[in-house]
Amino acid sequence: MSKNILISGGAGYLGTILTQYLLQKGFSVTVYDKLYFPWLYKNRKKIKNHKKLKFIKKNITEVEKKDFIGIDTVCDLNGIPNDPASEINKKYTWNINNIGRRNFALKAKHTGVKRYIFNSTCSVYGFNKKIVYENSKTNPISTYAKANLMSEKYIYDLKNKNFKVNILRNSTLFGFSNNLRLDLVINIFVYNIVNNKKIIIDGDGLQYRPFICLRDICKIYYKLINSNHNSFITNLVHFNMTIKDLTKKICKSLKIPFKNKINFNKDNNDKRNYNVGSKNFRKLFKNYKFCSFRTELIDLKKGIIKNRIKKNNTTIRMKFYKKLF
Ligand SMILES: NC(=O)c1ccc[n+]([C@@H]2O[C@H](COP(=O)([O-])OP(=O)(O)OC[C@H]3O[C@@H](n4cnc5c(N)ncnc54)[C@H](O)[C@@H]3O)[C@@H](O)[C@H]2O)c1
Repeated sequence: MSKNILISGGAGYLGTILTQYLLQKGFSVTVYDKLYFPWLYKNRKKIKNHKKLKFIKKNITEVEKKDFIGIDTVCDLNGIPNDPASEINKKYTWNINNIGRRNFALKAKHTGVKRYIFNSTCSVYGFNKKIVYENSKTNPISTYAKANLMSEKYIYDLKNKNFKVNILRNSTLFGFSNNLRLDLVINIFVYNIVNNKKIIIDGDGLQYRPFICLRDICKIYYKLINSNHNSFITNLVHFNMTIKDLTKKICKSLKIPFKNKINFNKDNNDKRNYNVGSKNFRKLFKNYKFCSFRTELIDLKKGIIKNRIKKNNTTIRMKFYKKLF
């Protein structure tokens, strides 16, 4: 069984939760991250099992073979994490999300890492009228989706019997993290409800999107790291919904009236529309039970209130990367 995990991008929104989850399960975790968002590092001593936690504060472009010594599994959660931020500086996005992540995987393979889990995105399907599965035609629209898809292909081709590669195409994530992102649709909608603001829907709200919560991703990573699974590509999706129906579901779960709660921003037409299924997930993770949407939403709401979360450079990636460049 794998014991030593390196999480690249391990101090980010998902990484902050995944790192703590895997430490609690008894793994040693090395966080390889430029630490643009410092919560995990600043609070490292308060984290359960923190004696098993190490940090490497470097850009992924500076990775060396010695960074992987003793590591069995790499989880790659790195890079510019969404479509709008990827367009600010396209050259930079290609350099990190494509070249940087590819070289990172290559070095891991050459140092003897046994499993490489690449966190990808359902954005690779772009605009698609039909429900998309792993073998459906991809249609990446943004620089983010294009760069990620090319990395996926390159890294998947590195697989062999000693270097297993698992590509996880994530849906849009939601849920509380100590490094919370408010540029994710469910998170921002709940933030607006907490702050008594209207929910703004881009376009007519009839665009479909797939969703999954952070806790599900952690549970799936844990199962995968403990398994003998071979290399594979899978979509990770709990449910699909139109943005308008999603708003109704959130209001219902948080027991607040839906009426007069939303505004449509018709000028900002959201071109992305995809409805994602998975033929592989059910085969690979038999009988997997997804977390309760309502429980995750209540946790998210409580976390926003308790930690006095605000919209700023840390919670909106677009703002952060605009400033960085
Ligand atoms: N959040 C989502 O809804 C979602 C959905 C699908 C896929 N993903 C993918 O999952 C991964 C994690 O997403 P997230 O929401 O946690 O993103 P995030 O921005 O919160 O985390 C990314 C982490 O990578 C680090 N980083 C960025 N550039 C770096 C560099 N050049 N060198 C070293 N470290 C660097 C940042 O400091 C940050 O901690 C990303 O690859 C993202 O594309 C996210």
